[in-house]
Amino acid sequence: TQETVSKSVQELANTNQVPEKYIYAQGSINTYPLLFDVPQVDLSLLTSPNRQQQLNKLQSGLKSCGCIQVINHGMEDSFLDKVREISKKFFALPTEEKLKYARTVNQIEGYGNDKVLTDKQRLDWSDRLCLNVFPEDIRELRFWPQKPECFREVFEEYMKNMKLLSESLLKAMAASLNVEENCFLDQCGERGMTTARFNFYPPCPRPDVVLGVKQHADASAITILLQDKEVEGLQVLKDDQWFRVPVVPYGLLINVGDQVEVMSNGIFKSPVHRVVTNAERERNSLAVFIMPDVHVGIGPVEKLINEERPRGYKDIKNYVALFFQSYQQGKIPIEAAKIS
Ligand code: SIN
Ligand code: FE2
Repeated sequence: TQETVSKSVQELANTNQVPEKYIYAQGSINTYPLLFDVPQVDLSLLTSPNRQQQLNKLQSGLKSCGCIQVINHGMEDSFLDKVREISKKFFALPTEEKLKYARTVNQIEGYGNDKVLTDKQRLDWSDRLCLNVFPEDIRELRFWPQKPECFREVFEEYMKNMKLLSESLLKAMAASLNVEENCFLDQCGERGMTTARFNFYPPCPRPDVVLGVKQHADASAITILLQDKEVEGLQVLKDDQWFRVPVVPYGLLINVGDQVEVMSNGIFKSPVHRVVTNAERERNSLAVFIMPDVHVGIGPVEKLINEERPRGYKDIKNYVALFFQSYQQGKIPIEAAKIS
């Protein structure tokens, strides 16, 4: 019923029951497939004589599987622990307290669980808190937790770092393809949006038939993910097979989103991924989405269109609108951007 569905997953987990809406009928989910060896890029070397080697790694990772791990990104381990701590503490608050930040129906921003877009949809075994952070004037502070006490301060500091990191990543990505450094960044616009999603995955009694997050590709330009320090869960699809993404405790996982796939004319791939559940342990993650300004519009960079690689994607005004529309029609969003 509607009521069970709108309960937080955390509350469901306490009842040890899994409502039908969460269950995938088609066979067993492989929660422990082979490990995917995600290339590691050392960001501190981007300003050293070894720059080219790191750019090559970045390029080949984003071409082949659409993701890389970055290390030496300039944030202290202890700071990343603090970021993980505010997330854990927030989800550990009593339901009543968390509901102060509850999103309203049909909105994305705020505290809630999987958004219901179609009747057929299976629901994700996760609760989340979504916050819009940049540009600063779009912030809805009523959704920003006041508990734990240091939440806003730590979060704000982290997000400032994310903004800087995203800019240097977008530049490095362009540089790795030998095109003008700002060609991806400029398509994001001065008022590109940066949003954050704290994910909380309670233990699930049926990891064999329930997913933490259903299979999808991100609508972003790029996504920066701080994974749980100990508990794995993320999987990427490569050559029709699922692979586990390893935990690098103080690294960040960067994945290409659909919009950079478009901008790069398909050289960089937006990976299909999902999150599996775990019967014993909870998992936390924090995803930061770098979203181009929907008023600017995106398209393949001219220099990346040539005889060998003809234009594969249309120019698109508002990819996010296209994304949700396709999704609701049961289609794969990126397909709607392709030139058929
Ligand atoms: C997501 O891709 O939506 C979540 C990723 C994660 O929790 O690892
Ligand atoms: Fe994702």
